[in-house]
Amino acid sequence: MNFVKLHTFLLVYHMNNFVVGVVPKEISKLSNIQQINFGFNKLTGSIPVDVFNISTLISITLSGNHLSGNLPSTMCYNLPNLAGLYLGKNIIGGVIPNSIANCSNLQVIELSENVFQGSFPKSLGDLSLLKDLDLSNNNLSSDPSSFTLDFITSLANCKYLSVIEFGNNPLYGVIPDSIGNLSSTVEGIYGETGKLRGDFPSGIGNLSCLNTLDLADNQLSGLLPSSMKNLLNLQRLYLGGNNMSISLELFCAFKNLGLLGLEENYIIGGAIPDCLGNITSMRVLYLSSNGLNSSLPVSLWNLKDLLMLVLSSNSLTGSLPPEINNLKRLTLLDFSSNHFSGDIPRTIGDLENLQNLYLAHNQLEGHIPEAIGSMLSLEQLDLSYNFLSGSLPLSLEKLQDLTFFNVSFNNLRGKIPSQGPFINFTAESFISNQALCGASRFHVPPCSNRPTQHRPSGINKHKILIILVVTISIVGTACLVFVYLKYKNKGKTTIDDQESFSLFTHKRISYYELLQATNRYNQDNLLGTGSFGSVYKGVLKDGSVVAVKVFNSQLEGSFKSFDKECEVLCNLRHRNLTKVICSCSNPDFKALVLDYMPNGSLHSWLHSNKCILNVMQRLDILIDVACALQYLHVGNLTSVAHCDVKPSNVLLDEEMVAHISDFGISKLLGGEDNITYTKTLATFCYIAPEYASEGLISTSCDIYSFGIMIMEIFTRKSPSDEMFGENLSLKSWVQRCMPDKLTAVIDVDLLSTFNQHSHEILANILSIMDVALACTRVSPRERSNIEEVLASLNKIKLQLLPYTNEWH
Ligand SMILES: *[C@@H]1O[C@H](CO)[C@@H](O)[C@H](O)[C@H]1NC(C)=O
Ligand SMILES: *[C@@H]1O[C@H](CO)[C@@H](O)[C@H](O)[C@H]1NC(C)=O
Ligand SMILES: *[C@@H]1O[C@H](CO)[C@@H](O)[C@H](O)[C@H]1NC(C)=O
Ligand SMILES: *[C@@H]1O[C@H](CO)[C@@H](O)[C@H](O)[C@H]1NC(C)=O
Ligand SMILES: *[C@@H]1O[C@H](CO)[C@@H](O)[C@H](O)[C@H]1NC(C)=O
Ligand SMILES: *[C@@H]1O[C@H](CO)[C@@H](O)[C@H](O)[C@H]1NC(C)=O
Ligand SMILES: *[C@@H]1O[C@H](CO)[C@@H](O)[C@H](O)[C@H]1NC(C)=O
Ligand SMILES: *[C@@H]1O[C@H](CO)[C@@H](O)[C@H](O)[C@H]1NC(C)=O
Ligand SMILES: *[C@@H]1O[C@H](CO)[C@@H](O)[C@H](O)[C@H]1NC(C)=O
Ligand SMILES: *[C@@H]1O[C@H](CO)[C@@H](O)[C@H](O)[C@H]1NC(C)=O
Repeated sequence: MNFVKLHTFLLVYHMNNFVVGVVPKEISKLSNIQQINFGFNKLTGSIPVDVFNISTLISITLSGNHLSGNLPSTMCYNLPNLAGLYLGKNIIGGVIPNSIANCSNLQVIELSENVFQGSFPKSLGDLSLLKDLDLSNNNLSSDPSSFTLDFITSLANCKYLSVIEFGNNPLYGVIPDSIGNLSSTVEGIYGETGKLRGDFPSGIGNLSCLNTLDLADNQLSGLLPSSMKNLLNLQRLYLGGNNMSISLELFCAFKNLGLLGLEENYIIGGAIPDCLGNITSMRVLYLSSNGLNSSLPVSLWNLKDLLMLVLSSNSLTGSLPPEINNLKRLTLLDFSSNHFSGDIPRTIGDLENLQNLYLAHNQLEGHIPEAIGSMLSLEQLDLSYNFLSGSLPLSLEKLQDLTFFNVSFNNLRGKIPSQGPFINFTAESFISNQALCGASRFHVPPCSNRPTQHRPSGINKHKILIILVVTISIVGTACLVFVYLKYKNKGKTTIDDQESFSLFTHKRISYYELLQATNRYNQDNLLGTGSFGSVYKGVLKDGSVVAVKVFNSQLEGSFKSFDKECEVLCNLRHRNLTKVICSCSNPDFKALVLDYMPNGSLHSWLHSNKCILNVMQRLDILIDVACALQYLHVGNLTSVAHCDVKPSNVLLDEEMVAHISDFGISKLLGGEDNITYTKTLATFCYIAPEYASEGLISTSCDIYSFGIMIMEIFTRKSPSDEMFGENLSLKSWVQRCMPDKLTAVIDVDLLSTFNQHSHEILANILSIMDVALACTRVSPRERSNIEEVLASLNKIKLQLLPYTNEWH
């Protein structure tokens, strides 16, 4: 090893020419050295004991090497002058020797990022000159015989103490109130990511010079003591990831506070107080998951120097005001998973430094403002799960740095831009919108030449209603009967007007390929049968598993328009509808090849007792079905009524995502057929009264059936159960027990899964049942529409989320 003796008093080696090897024993022969500095080299082995025998040493710097071994127990017997010991970022283990206190001149101890074990040496408190103590990122634990961190108490004698770091150690125990007896010179306490628990000590209020307090990610609880308000020099407070009750008013008078990290605690009162806007020094504000439930104070927009504002996962309400553009320096804005509503203000475009904008999972509506295209620093934009409508502004193409973009689950329509960052986006960014069109890689239909702006929406304007009626149900899939009802005038606007449907012509498959796929329609592959045909499980040549639905040839005569209707139906594409993969149509044979749903139907999950679905799974299934219905009812140019929403028509894929079973085409119904078929359907218990009595079909029939299905899912009682008859129906049974006797109707197996919080969970199930009742009102006009239903269910889901860990 070629180290250089620069000076009798100083031995250093410069970083850019790495020293590799071990610290030579001979080093101790260099008498009179005052400093050893081999920081950030590639030294290995353990530190020779001889080093600790150089009594002239003032500092030892060996940080950032690969040194291992232990420190000798006699380490400080011969280092009376040592002021700085820097050994951080090595792999030195064992205990920190008690003899460290014999280095009575020590001012700085830097042992972080090693593997020291055992407890904190109590003798540290004897180092009366100690200023900085950094033992973070080790494997130090607390004295098992004591439940408090008594090393803190022992440090009270260190009159010059400035910084204590002990974060990232497996430290258990409570912080003693004697923390208030530490020297008032203490400026920083870093004890993040440990197992500290119990109440936060009020003694902290004595440390009036404190500028940084980091106890994030521990298990502290109780009330943040009011003595905190004395810490007027505080600049950074990290208490995130604890379980404390915090009054934000405590910080009102702070003049230097720049960072307030309180996420995952509980803000008393659920509101951000007005006075927070007076802390103009604020740079970073993290208040996510804090139970905030009010609207934002106007004063918040005074915090002109704010760089990061994270308020996600609360229940904040109100709209985003135009004043949001006061926060010009903002780089991160996260408001996701709240109840913000209203439009996104145009002024948001003024936030030219904003890199990350997250507004997902709110109730924002209106158009995406053109001005977002001026946010030239934007890298990530998540607007998914809102009610945004209109089209995607072309100005987004200007955002060169945009790498993440998500507008899934909104009501957007029109062309997806294709230039700029859109070159790299995939279909994942645009899932489930109303009528987006554009490049095929986005899995949307190509755009027609029609203007996207003033399309009619809803049935009434368009005067045409395509109705899909499920007449039979088959395990595994179901067969839909397809109806056009041409209303009085504008009869010519039929499906022939193909321009309004951008065509997906799905793949065709040969008769022989299907024969092979199903092993010649082997009975072993039979998934189910119904009056319109049979469904078989099949394996295509490419290995994909599918469900093949073969139509009964005896009914073939009624399939005159098979090809055309099939094309129309294949245009209905949604994550929660089973997909038509291909079809096979010969004069005497017709079949549809559908996505295979390995988890079968919801009906079998509810009524065959195999596994119990938990509350969230049941709610998720309802939300999936509601999304599909939203798509059918309002997501297309032409409204589609499904007309047989019920558990056996809801199929579950391997991830338990629900799909309304899709479009078998078995019959084109004319006037007479329609009557027949109404008679057949009238025997079912899911049917709306006006449908049963008059054959009147509309989207509110689906809502009615959906309401009955909600009741069935949570009571696990089929509406056709023998307990129901002329005098009692599922609906009246549920209605009778609301709200006080809800537990009398809820599925007992579900009830038994609640541990804590059963009260809160039941309150949410009650809300779900309210949705069900609003869906099943006798008059179709009084029923909720699908968008109201979906909004309510999504809201309930948010309220239930805090309790979901009870089912994992
Ligand atoms: C330390 O130095 C003293 C003399 O100053 C000597 O007697 C002793 O043997 C040395 N110890 C080691 C471990 O080198
Ligand atoms: C180390 O310090 C302890 C207590 O302060 C003292 O009893 C002991 O004599 C010291 N040892 C040496 C070698 O200085
Ligand atoms: C940490 O210390 C404990 C004993 O206190 C030991 O069992 C464990 O292996 C150590 N972990 C590491 C990563 O060194
Ligand atoms: C703080 O120190 C004083 C004086 O040494 C002592 O009386 C008091 O008990 C200490 N407080 C705590 C909480 O330990
Ligand atoms: C706070 O400091 C005062 C003296 O200024 C002292 O009497 C008191 O014990 C300290 N509080 C705590 C909790 O240590
Ligand atoms: C959080 O604190 C509350 C009381 O403040 C307590 O009831 C609850 O059990 C704590 N939760 C956890 C996860 O420690
Ligand atoms: C907000 O939460 C607080 C409890 O943190 C509660 O007292 C208050 O009623 C809630 N306000 C609203 C509007 O829900
Ligand atoms: C904010 O500060 C101003 C002036 O310093 C003061 O008048 C006002 O009362 C403060 N607002 C709050 C809510 O504390
Ligand atoms: C698309 O991604 C590639 C590779 O990640 C990157 O080099 C390119 O700049 C991106 N294009 C745009 C327009 O963002
Ligand atoms: C957008 O959000 C949806 C819903 O959370 C998700 O399924 C999809 O993968 C996301 N897209 C991207 C690009 O991450």
